[in-house]
Formats: sequence, structure tokens, C-alpha cells
Amino acid sequence: MTKVLVATVKPFIPDAVEGIKKIVSEAGYEFSLLEKYADQAELIAAVADADAMIIRSDKATREVIQAGKNLKVIVRAGSGYDNIDLEAASEKSIVAMNTPGQNSNAVAELAMGMMVYLARNGYNGKAGTELKEKKLGIHAYGNVGKRIANIAKGFGMQVLVFRPTRPEEVGEKDGITFVGSAEELYSTCNYISVNIPANEQTKKSINYELLASMPQPATLVNAARKEIINEDDLLRVFEEREDFAYISDIAPDCKDTIAEKYPGRYFFTPKKMGAQTAEANINAGVAAATQIRDYFETGDTTFQVNK
Ligand code: 3PG
Repeated sequence: MTKVLVATVKPFIPDAVEGIKKIVSEAGYEFSLLEKYADQAELIAAVADADAMIIRSDKATREVIQAGKNLKVIVRAGSGYDNIDLEAASEKSIVAMNTPGQNSNAVAELAMGMMVYLARNGYNGKAGTELKEKKLGIHAYGNVGKRIANIAKGFGMQVLVFRPTRPEEVGEKDGITFVGSAEELYSTCNYISVNIPANEQTKKSINYELLASMPQPATLVNAARKEIINEDDLLRVFEEREDFAYISDIAPDCKDTIAEKYPGRYFFTPKKMGAQTAEANINAGVAAATQIRDYFETGDTTFQVNK
């Protein structure tokens, strides 16, 4: 019997698990659940006889992939797939997929909420600032970037966008100013929301030159991945500019230094919180299960990321 393993250190809400289970059972497959596991060894043991695996930020390393003797498909219920060893998957002809767009509203709402939180000094009673009329630069215009742009327009922010995949798209469209380079975006905007994936090209790419060029006061918002920030450069900008603040969904490695030296100029979530809503859990979980069923039944590889 085809076995579908759901392996989540950070579990889905029960309704999302039920939704996945329903699709899996109705397709005639066996459902297996591994939640809140403390050790990779538990994942390695659980994947041994699975034909398909649904994960979140869980690390599908080469070791995990090789342990999955029957594994044919891995679906990352979410957007970023930097946690899957794609090379190892491809070597075994395992299809790796993500579920793009399913949790993007949750991530975008969190990014906006964190901006308000810091602009109001963590609600400490002192007068803060408003987002209205401030310039927000959105670095990449995927599902999350687009959603942030729409919400930010509702806040009355001036929205600018740089699309790394289409730098030639410049000019005004839908009330948004598209600019042709990251340099132009950062040097123009007081708020920057960085929404790029973490990969070999983008890791540590948000560097001193970009951050130091931001007009005063500057706030960097990162609801993507901590790895895209050059943390040495980040600390240098913190040190050089009293007006600089950093908001991140998941703390950077240098969080203790920032907390000690720059109080009031940061906000970090203790765990990755972007996709932690009931809606996002259900959307991404159900999409993952549906994609697995469709792959087994019709060979559909629409969302494959290791083509
Ligand atoms: C994503 O890439 O989809 C988000 O970072 C959410 O990740 P999570 O499912 O591990 O919370």
C-alpha cells in the first residue's frame, strides 16, 4: 500500500492534519504522522518505508532521502525549499515539489504586523510613527511580495518594487513603481521588505552597500530567510547608524549582540511564524496532499522544483 508520511517538527494544526488524512485515505493510501520529533534519526526511521513525504521546514537531507528506499515524491508544504537536498532527490529520481502561494497571505500579514509593532515601539506607551506615506521597497515580487504590496497600498504606503527576475520591468503599474536594480530600491526606501529565496546566489546577498544606502530612518524587514542577510554587514550598519532597525521572522545568528547593543531597534520571532496561521496550515497541507495524489494518479508535476 502506498504510504504517505507527514513529518513536521513544527506541527500543522489538527484541522490541517485531518484534511491531509482525508485526501490520503480517500485515495486509498496509508497515512503516517511524525510530529515534534527531537532527532533527525526519528525522521530517518520514519521515512524508511514511505512512498511520499510531506514536510515543512524539516530538513530533507541526503541521509533522509537515501533512507527513503521507496520514496518517490517529497512535498514541502510551503514556499521555500532550501531545506531539501534537491541534488540527492534528483539522483534518486524523486520528485520534489513545493506549494507556492498557499501561505503567502499569512507571511505578508506577519511582515506588515511586525512593521507596525516596531513603528509603535513595541506598544510601550511612547509615541511611534505611522506607515502611511512611507516608502516601502519590496525586494522580489513573488506571491509574498505581491501580497505585501497590496496590503501596504491599503496602509497608504508608497510602494516600490524590484523584480530580480525581470529587472527590465520599470515604470508605474497598478499604483506601484517598478525600479531596475536593488541598489535603486534600497537607496530610495525607508522600509525594505526582502522576499527572495535562500539559494547559492542569494545567501548573504543583502550586504553593507545595500543597507548603508537606505535613507534615514531605515528599517529592514525579513520574512524570508535569515541566511540571505550578511550578518557581519548587518552589525556594521547597526553600529554606524542609530536610525537603522531590523525586523526578522526568525532571529539572526547575531541576535544576542543586537539585543545587547541595540535595544528598541529590532524585533525577532522566536520561531519561524510566517506560515503559522490556521488558514495557511490548511491551505499548504491540503495542497501538498492533493499534489501527491495527483502525482501518483496522473503524473502531474506542475510544482516540481528539481526539474
Ligand atoms: C515557507 O517557506 O513556506 C515559510 O517559511 C513557512 O515555513 P514553515 O512551514 O516551516 O513554517
